[in-house]
Amino acid sequence: MRELSIEDGRIRDAFLAVPRELFVPEFAAREGVAAVYRNEAILTRGDLRRPLSSSSQPTIMARMLERLELEEDMNVLEVGAGTGYNAALLSLLARRVVSVELDHRTAVGARAALRRGGHRARVVTGEGRLGFAARAPYDRIIVTASTDVVPRAWRTQLAEGGLLEVPLRLDASGAQAVVVFEKSADGFRSRAVIAGGFMPLRTGDDEVSPTPFLGASADGRLIRGLSGSSLGTLTAQAKRRLLATALGEERRVPLPFRSRSPALGLFVGLTLSPSRHVMSVPGFRVGAIARDGRSLALLAPSSVHSFGDDRATEILLRRVEDWDRRGRPAESDLHLRVSYAGERSSIRRQWRR
Ligand SMILES: C[S@@+](CC[C@H](N)C(=O)[O-])C[C@H]1O[C@@H](n2cnc3c(N)ncnc32)[C@H](O)[C@@H]1O
Repeated sequence: MRELSIEDGRIRDAFLAVPRELFVPEFAAREGVAAVYRNEAILTRGDLRRPLSSSSQPTIMARMLERLELEEDMNVLEVGAGTGYNAALLSLLARRVVSVELDHRTAVGARAALRRGGHRARVVTGEGRLGFAARAPYDRIIVTASTDVVPRAWRTQLAEGGLLEVPLRLDASGAQAVVVFEKSADGFRSRAVIAGGFMPLRTGDDEVSPTPFLGASADGRLIRGLSGSSLGTLTAQAKRRLLATALGEERRVPLPFRSRSPALGLFVGLTLSPSRHVMSVPGFRVGAIARDGRSLALLAPSSVHSFGDDRATEILLRRVEDWDRRGRPAESDLHLRVSYAGERSSIRRQWRR
């Protein structure tokens, strides 16, 4: 798969052994098998405004599997079966895999694909926030949709010494980090953090996506999309202007230094003011806006993609410079703790650099 470098041999072998096209048959028939092997998420249900199911981007899948420290004799719970592709990979890396999927039709599709591929992973239809008590305790729980709470059931069903890996929405802006947790005395503490973004866990198909979206499409294809809670509080006029700004001329402003570190996007996303934070869709680039809609800036690996006037670019560059000044904190410098009051979880986070 182009652009995908996987350090862990077992995980690389699993990716080589499982044909992704088996799990996205409609996409493969429509776009061809080569398109299946782009290092991109493939949306399989819903649309970009309201995504309901997808096969996640292979890079983030591989990084999550690497951080999960799987061993052959482990019992694993996945939350969010989606296409079943990750469950198939898990089934080659652990002894027993069960995946909970909220959507019945999606679960049926995942089951069929796993059967076609001869993979021994069970898919159950249900509410993943409740875990799956029948097969607990789990050595590993991996969640493949984002959440702003950590249900107590996941802690109860996790074995002592087990790991929970979950994409967390960390503030009102929707900024996310994928966190590997180990149990602490009264909750969880983080052991590893990866930059990344996932569609939200939901409670039913009628639930509206929690993240406001602004986009323009042509010929049925999205040409520019932005999401973020900041958009929900813009005036109608500012929204119209922002869309026009986003569709206008793009300038590339070089970063003061080159960095391919995923921690830069994570840091910028988590330290931008929620009222100015956006994400580009697709692509999930961190961006900043001016509240009047006349300025937009998106962070790329070596430059800022700048639209309209310079204010958003300046906001973004201040965060980039702050990251540099603080000694370029790594993903592992972000520490999180989860505690509980009854069933309610609360999450605290801190950059230790
Ligand atoms: C990004 S997709 C998962 C990708 C999947 N692991 C794969 O390899 O294809 C997220 C999935 O989570 C499911 N989901 C959303 N809310 C859920 C919930 N509360 N419980 C269980 N599954 C849920 C969605 O229906 C969707 O299929």
